[in-house]
Amino acid sequence: MPVLVFAHWMNLPLDEVERLERWGRQYNIATQTGDAVSTKEASDALYARARGLMEERKIRPLDTKVDAVSALLATRVDGEPLPEELIIGTIRQVLVIGVIAPMVMIGSICVHLGRDRELQDRLRRDPSLIPAAIAEFLRLYTPYRGFARTAVCDITVHGRTIPAGEPIALNYASANRDEDVFEDPGTFRLHRPNISASIAFGRGPHTCPGAGLAELELAVALEELLARTKGFQVDGDIFPTRMPEIGALHVPLKFT
Ligand code: HEM
Repeated sequence: MPVLVFAHWMNLPLDEVERLERWGRQYNIATQTGDAVSTKEASDALYARARGLMEERKIRPLDTKVDAVSALLATRVDGEPLPEELIIGTIRQVLVIGVIAPMVMIGSICVHLGRDRELQDRLRRDPSLIPAAIAEFLRLYTPYRGFARTAVCDITVHGRTIPAGEPIALNYASANRDEDVFEDPGTFRLHRPNISASIAFGRGPHTCPGAGLAELELAVALEELLARTKGFQVDGDIFPTRMPEIGALHVPLKFT
């Protein structure tokens, strides 16, 4: 489903979905297992597709309001277009990033609901609660563990000085379970009053531009899963993801 949503958002032809899914899956499995050769192969295929897509949009641009690649091509900074390598790199990054986190989230939501029948039934009875549930699932099971930054100046945080130029790992998944911010942080609670403090989609200039799409996608996935089933439970071993994601990659479910 995330590949399909993504292909639609990128205005890719539907017959490409299968290929994109194959590369995305190969890339994901290869990075998860540390297979450098396979990672490079899938990455090269994604780069080639990104370059091809840019060339296609140069010849036949689409409406910049609904097409990300055409919008990147039309952007001017101080009157200059963006460098082509930057555009290709951006498309290539989005080809992976836009697909993996929603998949991992759907897995984590299935694990939680498969073990919490009461909540599962409550959401099935009242789908209007689903958006709030998604926000809390994103806090509790933040799929991207963290991202890297470099300190641009000396800064002291909680008595610890980080010197300028120092690389830093920002652990978003841990921050979303910070007991100084969220009461009883390991527990699922609908309608937390401070849920906007969640940093599942990051913060600042690099905040996830796909957040709205991702929230909608997850809400639709959960709505459909609940509407089409009477009940489900986890039935077998869950395979977790490795760095940089955190969550469930493979979840066997039994439908009742
Ligand atoms: C559950 C789904 C998703 C989660 C939890 C998520 C999370 C994040 C986070 C935490 C960042 C910030 C990275 C940082 O601080 O450096 C980010 C950036 C980004 N996300 Fe998402 N994301 C999701 C889905 C998507 C989707 C569907 C798209 C595209 C359609 C997308 C595109 C991007 C891009 C392009 C960036 C880079 C922004 C930048 O560096 O300025 N994401 N995402």
